[in-house]
Amino acid sequence: MNSLLNKHILLGITGGIAAYKSADVVRRLREQGARVRVVMTRGACEFITPLTLQALSGERVHRDLLDAEAEAAMGHIELARWADLVLVAPCSANFMARFCHGFAGDLLATLCLATTAPVVLAPAMNRQMWLAAATQANVDRLVQRGVPLLGPDEGAQACGETGPGRMLEPDAIVSAVNKLFLTGRLAGQTVLITAGPTREYIDPVRYISNCSSGRMGYAIARAAAEAGARVTLVSGPTALAPPEAVAIVRVESANQMHRAVMEHVADARVFISAAAVADYTCKDMADDKIKKHVSEFSLTLNKTADILSDVTSLPEPPFTVGFAAETSHLADNAKIKLKNKRLDLIAANQVGNGLGFDNEDNALHLYWEGGSLDLGQASKDQLARQLVKVIAEHYEEKNRHKIAGSATRH
Ligand code: CTP
Repeated sequence: MNSLLNKHILLGITGGIAAYKSADVVRRLREQGARVRVVMTRGACEFITPLTLQALSGERVHRDLLDAEAEAAMGHIELARWADLVLVAPCSANFMARFCHGFAGDLLATLCLATTAPVVLAPAMNRQMWLAAATQANVDRLVQRGVPLLGPDEGAQACGETGPGRMLEPDAIVSAVNKLFLTGRLAGQTVLITAGPTREYIDPVRYISNCSSGRMGYAIARAAAEAGARVTLVSGPTALAPPEAVAIVRVESANQMHRAVMEHVADARVFISAAAVADYTCKDMADDKIKKHVSEFSLTLNKTADILSDVTSLPEPPFTVGFAAETSHLADNAKIKLKNKRLDLIAANQVGNGLGFDNEDNALHLYWEGGSLDLGQASKDQLARQLVKVIAEHYEEKNRHKIAGSATRH
């Protein structure tokens, strides 16, 4: 599965002859749909020009920590937040040592400290430098800290020697980065997700709906698939392409969504209800287009079934996650929905003020019985990955309790 679509990769290039291969890394990452921003150290600029990387990434290349112009466009903290993953390729012995010991003397090293995204290193250096006791001690420390090291490869080196220290080839680096996003957190689980708005038709050409774009639900579907789950996405009408490796069931109305969920829920271990389901539907849909003969007319609306509550009322409900879209009293309303709908977890988001519906960004606050977590504001893709991580943790914990409970009963 290609997990790189829309991922934000910050590529750090340090000084080494392998820097010329970084150009190809950028090209291949972009071919897979990733967005790439490049940060170069002073040493890197001796080996390859920023212009090359700018042309290939389609983005301005960042070089200096204290460049007022660059900071005005996108500051180093913003860059650190923007990244889903920081890849340093090639990573010189010097940079590895600086990163290992937390130095922040230049832009790249500062970013590596300031980011919460994983930092991945593709070392490239002379074989003696790689084998040196100091480098190997740094490698051990980094491995202990869980820093993924891609390579190095063995073979002929630019210095004429042969041995370990060559940077991995660009295709191997890109494929390793792709795998890093495939977390396997929900491996083997079946996840059912709803997304998008519903349409409640008034007549054959008019309907009542809402502003949901479906982006949050689609991002969750993609994140769950990347986490190894078998995902079915029940989607209301959206303009979005279905995520890779996700089975999609298209519906229009709240009733159709209810039916589709009930058809698929028996197989699901996790149900995530991200759809903005209409709470009311037209009692009678006109068979023909309503004409404007009369100056005023009324619609009678009937309440729709609450899909989420119907799922948690099943004899053996899956682990269930709801959403609460609120314009005010976010925490209170979310906690009420958590309890009333008997959810395992609820993700609350403020709608309006440039957030929520039909926006790139969102801000999620998670609540569960006895706990909460603020995921802050980020892109919907980033939030979806964080949400899936939290869901996987809570799902595992709930199952552990269940197993422990049944063991004590026997
Ligand atoms: N939901 C649902 N079926 C409905 C309405 C809502 O499954 N008929 C789900 C949504 O997908 C969401 C959660 O219930 O996960 C809360 O939806 P929201 O619109 O915030 O709240 P409502 O339950 O509709 O309550 P209210 O409109 O009073 O805020």
